[in-house]
Amino acid sequence: MKNNDLLKPASREEAELLEKLDPKRMPNHLAVIMDGNGRWAEKRHLPRVAGHRAGVKAAREVIETCARLNLPCLTLYAFSLENWRRPQAEVDFLMRLLREYLKRELPTINKNNIRLLVIGRSAQLPEAVGRDIADAMRQTARNTGMKLVVALNYGGRAELADAFNAMLDHVRANGLSAFRADEQTISDHLYTAGLPDPDLLIRTSGEMRVSNFLLWQIAYAEIYVTEALWPDFSRVRLLEALVDFQKRERRYGGLGALRAEHDARSRRG
Ligand code: IPE
Ligand code: IPE
Ligand code: MG
Repeated sequence: MKNNDLLKPASREEAELLEKLDPKRMPNHLAVIMDGNGRWAEKRHLPRVAGHRAGVKAAREVIETCARLNLPCLTLYAFSLENWRRPQAEVDFLMRLLREYLKRELPTINKNNIRLLVIGRSAQLPEAVGRDIADAMRQTARNTGMKLVVALNYGGRAELADAFNAMLDHVRANGLSAFRADEQTISDHLYTAGLPDPDLLIRTSGEMRVSNFLLWQIAYAEIYVTEALWPDFSRVRLLEALVDFQKRERRYGGLGALRAEHDARSRRG
């Protein structure tokens, strides 16, 4: 990536990775499962919540870097529907941390022209959290840069159930006996309606699973799993993931450009 005034490399390693990046082939939508905060803390003999606090710092760096790289959309998995199964004190801490983050970071989010969106069952969040989210979305609604989508109280199957029920409501309300849904209709009823599908899904801390995240939308996403724990996921780690993404051959069930080229050449002899 040449002449990038937006992102000043802070080290030689960053500069080398930036050099390898092709600005024309950046993902349209990067989705991240931020995992490993607890393990990061345990390794340091700290309480799990210290890991969550360190995780916020990593999130801030990733958000700022993606905005500077002009990524159109970044989705961060912050709290799943299943995360309510954790001890109440940890859940309370995570909710407090989120409110603190919004309050402190809103000026920077605005300065970077980022628009905040939240996906998930937000109506079931504690009232104060819901209020702060609604305020933050309102205050950034006119920003035209990167969309920062925070998945909060989010579950992929719940999202599909909500979409099907919204379609059923629509059918009943309009007495449509001949209604049929195609793939586009379903996409249009998801929380992510109007957003591109993620082309890159990153999961930290080495776990090879999707944990109920964006099940419909990741149909053809490239998956990148790194052993780095989320609080250690620095700008360098992010740039490495983007460079790796750009090396992948995306085929969408077809033969892909390299194979098609090879076949054409052998036909010509
Ligand atoms: C991810 O880190 C943060 C949330 C799920 C909120 P974890 O808390 O899952 O950390 P590990 O997986 O226990 O290390
Ligand atoms: C996924 O991480 C959810 C978030 C990152 C918010 P988890 O730690 O909750 O997932 P599992 O339990 O390892 O599948
Ligand atoms: Mg985890």
